[in-house]
Amino acid sequence: MTEISAAKGLAVLGAGKMGGILLEAFLKHGLVAPAQVFATVRQTSSERRSISSAQITLGTDNRAAAKNAEVILICVKPLAVGAVLDEIHSELNEHKLVISIAAAVSTEYMEKRVGGNVPVLRAMPNTPSMVGEGITAICKGKHATAKHLELARKLFDAVGKTVVVDEKHMDAVTGLSGSGPAFLYIILESLAEGGVKMGLSRELATLLAAQTMLGAAKVVLETGHHPALLKDTVTTPAGCTIDGILELEEGKLRVTLIKAVVKASQRAKELLFTDKES
Ligand SMILES: NC(=O)c1ccc[n+]([C@@H]2O[C@H](COP(=O)([O-])OP(=O)(O)OC[C@H]3O[C@@H](n4cnc5c(N)ncnc54)[C@H](OP(=O)(O)O)[C@@H]3O)[C@@H](O)[C@H]2O)c1
Repeated sequence: MTEISAAKGLAVLGAGKMGGILLEAFLKHGLVAPAQVFATVRQTSSERRSISSAQITLGTDNRAAAKNAEVILICVKPLAVGAVLDEIHSELNEHKLVISIAAAVSTEYMEKRVGGNVPVLRAMPNTPSMVGEGITAICKGKHATAKHLELARKLFDAVGKTVVVDEKHMDAVTGLSGSGPAFLYIILESLAEGGVKMGLSRELATLLAAQTMLGAAKVVLETGHHPALLKDTVTTPAGCTIDGILELEEGKLRVTLIKAVVKASQRAKELLFTDKES
């Protein structure tokens, strides 16, 4: 199995924010035909909230969706994964593939819940997937093969970059690239506020901040240079940037961001065992 076959399709169980983003991208890239998509939400009132295609099947019956599909993508909140697996396990076998994007939920937990030799993968995408600039880390459970990883990579490549990691790193990935967009929006918004304080319009300040963040990230990715080296190229001796950097150091920006990733990663370990939402 290297692609979703024409005969059997894709189930997206929990087509909310992240499930909806992924599904839209898979449809846009022609990775699955709309008629072969079986998506679910919890309540019918929220049907079609996040999916524009009218041709997909959207309902609340997880078991029916799993029965119709070869690949089952689980996009519900971590605490709901167990119940969803209980609902669908009788429709699963070694010829199907279960992929969960839920934070904290290990492949071992899912394998125990579904039993048998059902192939299981775990993935951690992020919200920039909505513009094709996401990054998804994937890892496989004990019954999944390299071909299953290849299929998952093909799916997640539709929303940006995909990396394969050891499962022991998935919580760190969750705290860095899963939560990271929220941290960066705060930094971006704050940079723009600085521009507003200095008299720029909010619209211009936000554009300057966003394009600067995008450009700086692109330079890191395209040159492969260490960020510290790139920072030095902007920092003229006795110039204005070093004065700004001094403020950042006094405000403990670095240590604050490091601690934010550490805290978010630690929280990711707990999500399955508490009733707080991610
Ligand atoms: N948001 C992110 O940045 C992000 C990034 C990576 C991974 N994730 C993971 O993605 C998962 C979903 O997060 P989200 O932000 O997309 O949350 P969300 O928008 O609340 O989506 C969850 C969806 O699951 C549906 N649902 C709940 N119980 C269900 C059930 N028993 N059967 C079928 N559908 C059910 C909900 O339906 P209703 O709308 O009807 O309640 C909703 O559509 C989480 O496990 C999270 O860890 C999220």
